[in-house]
Amino acid sequence: MSSEPRERWGSRAGFLLAAVGSAVGLGNMWRFSYLTAENGGAAFVVLYLAMTALVGLPVMLAEFTIGRGAGRSPVAALVHFGGGVWRPLGILFVASGALILSYYSVIAGWTLRYGLDALVSGFGSDAAGRFDAIAFGPGAAAWHLGFMALTIFVVGSGVRTGIERTSIVLMPALFLILVGLAIYAWTRPGSAAGYAYYLQTDFREILSFDVLKDAASQAFFSLSLGMGAMLTYASYLGREDNLPSESVVVAGSDFLVAFVAGLVVFPLIFALGLQQEVKDSTTGALFITLPHGFAEMGGVGRVVGFFFFAALVVGALTSAISLLEVVVATAIDELGWTRHKAVLVAGVAIALLGLPSSLDGNVLGAVDKLSGNVFLIFGALALAVFTGWFMPDPEGEASVGTHGVRWFFLWRSLLRFVVPAVLAVVLFYAVPDTWTALAALFR
Ligand code: PHE
Repeated sequence: MSSEPRERWGSRAGFLLAAVGSAVGLGNMWRFSYLTAENGGAAFVVLYLAMTALVGLPVMLAEFTIGRGAGRSPVAALVHFGGGVWRPLGILFVASGALILSYYSVIAGWTLRYGLDALVSGFGSDAAGRFDAIAFGPGAAAWHLGFMALTIFVVGSGVRTGIERTSIVLMPALFLILVGLAIYAWTRPGSAAGYAYYLQTDFREILSFDVLKDAASQAFFSLSLGMGAMLTYASYLGREDNLPSESVVVAGSDFLVAFVAGLVVFPLIFALGLQQEVKDSTTGALFITLPHGFAEMGGVGRVVGFFFFAALVVGALTSAISLLEVVVATAIDELGWTRHKAVLVAGVAIALLGLPSSLDGNVLGAVDKLSGNVFLIFGALALAVFTGWFMPDPEGEASVGTHGVRWFFLWRSLLRFVVPAVLAVVLFYAVPDTWTALAALFR
């Protein structure tokens, strides 16, 4: 056990902004927009919203309940409520956090680099060439290491002075920037086709398991679920918070940000006539198509582009700190390390782990699939089963701080039946896909 007393959030708003900061990130802007483009637009958005409400929300409440109830990081919290057999699940959470951060930081490094492009040189006309030149290689590795250093600095400053303060300052800024950009996109001639693509649903497209798989994995990735980030943040809460309402606020804000990001990306892309390019480039949608558009917009494009990438950097940073915090809090609780030692050792190890992803796009893609489509989904499934079937009195624990909510029974039933069933189907479709991506690396 650590000799330092356990930290606490300074205020309810501080916790909420930190949790929303964890949820809102590259997932809402980069991953959401390329998956929406890949899966046919509005139909995907509807399915993703359904997954967020039906499957994401119950799991988030489960993570909050376990984290606050135990007041410990994932491994100790699961052992607290379930005994030693659940230790491996906690360890899987920590491993997922480390793995996700290792490549997440590489993409975050790109956003830093593009932000700097906007300031220093403007966006060049050869957007695809620029992306190829900077995305992978020694330069990308250096930016990845720089971003990791920033993350290490914030987490090293502690829960209240580091994580909470950073989120309180940066999250409102991110909201304002995105809304401003959405209004700007709305004023562009030709944006109407973008709204149509994004918002007019063709429901025939919803009925495919492949789209379901992407929608579910996107919901969990975007809500930071299935690897203990929300659990760990909740472990710094007091007993007076109303967890069901906090879950709704966090999940609702996360969806809202993704939705508004779509209101920026799609109208702009259609206004600039770049829709074909988006369909062709998937993962590169944000990093090739938009800079291409910004370059054509001239001086205004530099300003708009700067704010756009600044928002991405903010989102990435507040998410990355939650990923690192899971590993750090575990090292503090399990090994009795000080925060400084834990941050340095974990941060440097994860930075090194990310080097292969910074050098090779296939590695990054495979690690993204493995962690997002398999580890997070499996983690969330196991957590739902744990809370629904094995944890003693989850309803009682979740209702502390509320006035007794009647639908706790519904929550428990979702965790027992609906969430495991949906996630088992998702895993069934995700595993072969991921296996192919991994096997290709070793060929
Ligand atoms: N939710 C973050 C995003 O949308 C990513 C993340 C995943 C953060 C898992 C923490 C845990 O970018």
